[in-house]
Amino acid sequence: MADLGFDGQVAIITGAGGGLGRSHALELAKRGALIVVNDLGGSVDGTGEDASAAQKVVDEIKAAGGEAVANHDSVATPDGGKAIVQTAIDAFGRVDIVINNAGILRDKSFHNMTPDLVDPVIDVHLRGAFNVTQPAYVHMREQGYGRIVSTASAAGIFGNFGQTNYGAAKMGLVGFTRVLAVEGAKNNIKANVIAPVAKSRMTEDLMGDLVDRFGPEYVSPLVAWLAHADVPVTGEIYSVGAGHVARVFIGVTTGYTNTGDLTAEDIRDHFEAIRDEGGYTVPANLNEELMKTLSSIG
Ligand code: NAI
Repeated sequence: MADLGFDGQVAIITGAGGGLGRSHALELAKRGALIVVNDLGGSVDGTGEDASAAQKVVDEIKAAGGEAVANHDSVATPDGGKAIVQTAIDAFGRVDIVINNAGILRDKSFHNMTPDLVDPVIDVHLRGAFNVTQPAYVHMREQGYGRIVSTASAAGIFGNFGQTNYGAAKMGLVGFTRVLAVEGAKNNIKANVIAPVAKSRMTEDLMGDLVDRFGPEYVSPLVAWLAHADVPVTGEIYSVGAGHVARVFIGVTTGYTNTGDLTAEDIRDHFEAIRDEGGYTVPANLNEELMKTLSSIG
């Protein structure tokens, strides 16, 4: 089969001055996409700025024969999001792909969590996806084409100590993506989520001896596929790292039905059946789940 190319397509990659974003930018550029390398250039906790982070990756892409432009705006404000998309329009005249990747960490156990640890994390990860994707989506609707890949995390999907702020923001991106998948369908706009594990400045102290098996280059091929015209799915979640790729899905058990006299005791007495994972279904959207409930009550 032919290689997956992106000739002439324009991709915005947020937080692409290092780590995973840089790797995605190099991968898409190598395959012919024109790249907006966005990065504020701050530290892992989101403080500070450094315009050279994005520029270095642009220089790398150009040195390898690709095309890219730097943008240093923050994804955390609506104006920043608009400016990032405007950079794509000014430089290349269109936008086909948004990779929501920018991120920060402010971990703390929940009983010590304070607003200054919550708000910036929600602003960068979750609001950041709104701020950048919406102005791009307007162009995607008009051209009848778009691909959006957002970066969630196992910390939110499955849970991890000390990350209520981050987990909430990351799981928020799952809801964001599933609704975009529904709304974008008629204009050939597809949105999917990745939950990566990779060595970066964010994780290298946490991963111990295994860290070198988790290069970011093991994540970017999935991003390239999900950003490609041929990708057959939308609204889905994929776990990826160290050469392993798997689908994560939200399923519903067969459940228990009692349309007569459902009580708390009745639920207690059938709890095992309610929780039984055998025969689960995976609804693609709210309507599919509602139809399942309606068919259960007969
Ligand atoms: P990283 O710290 O190398 O990359 C994040 C980038 O986002 C940095 O270059 C940073 O300057 C940029 N950034 C932060 N705030 C920004 C803002 N307001 N506007 C624009 N850029 C901003 O870390 P890494 O690991 O490459 O993270 C990339 C994404 O992957 C993040 O969303 C992270 O939460 C997510 N992730 C990473 C995992 C891993 O194992 N490395 C695990 C799960 C999720």
